Amino acid sequence: MSNAIRKYLIAGNWKMNKTASEGVDLANEIVLSLAHQTDVSAVICPPFTALESCAKVLEGSNVQLGAQNMYPKAEGAFTGEVSPVMLRSLFCNFVILGHSERREYFKESDAFINEKVKAALESSLKPILCVGETLEEREADKTLEVIKTQLSGGLAGIDVENAEPIVIAYEPVWAIGTGKTATPEMAQEVHAAIRKELASIFNESVADHIRILYGGSMKPENASELLDQPDIDGGLIGGAALKAKSFIELVEIARQKV
Ligand code: 13P
Repeated sequence: MSNAIRKYLIAGNWKMNKTASEGVDLANEIVLSLAHQTDVSAVICPPFTALESCAKVLEGSNVQLGAQNMYPKAEGAFTGEVSPVMLRSLFCNFVILGHSERREYFKESDAFINEKVKAALESSLKPILCVGETLEEREADKTLEVIKTQLSGGLAGIDVENAEPIVIAYEPVWAIGTGKTATPEMAQEVHAAIRKELASIFNESVADHIRILYGGSMKPENASELLDQPDIDGGLIGGAALKAKSFIELVEIARQKV
């Protein structure tokens, strides 16, 4: 990352892993190492059921809390759903939206994800909007087209003055949980295209402030090269975020570049 106006962000997406008490153990280990550093934004995103117990562990530290999803209404008859207001009350600062697993398994559309992005911003939650192409789409040379559609759909109707807190995560679907990482050059190409698209949706200054994370089999072994790319501002980490050691190492690798 060459642009000093953006602070690296390393976010752990725990997905459907860790009970509340297992989450506390992991959060405790992370806080022991990272509580005082401020060079890098470190965020953990436990499942809903572990948010409250993890929030207590994070209290007073510089490690922040995020959720993995939410419903775009403040309250009401939406059985099984969780609102942005509820997440804020548990001291969440971030929320992952439009993850490819939700797009695939729960059929979330760009329009629905857009409602969530807007509702998150209204509740002062920073959305981490995930975009990314499937292997089939990449092989058909449709990567940039897919990303553009996901960005314009997911960010429709958001006022430019509200856009800076948004975080984008580029997660090529074929690289998630597969051990296959995009090469730093492949990732940079898409990140640069995302920033260009953000400049056209909002403006150049906002695009320069929005952090764009890479996600997909990112781990300590491949993070340094990825983070060296000018438009890669951090990572959204799955598997490697479930062990304190590798998550802490990823934050340390980013810190060394500050
Ligand atoms: P992995 O790091 O396990 O590939 O998962 C990436 C991801 O989906 C993060 O949201």
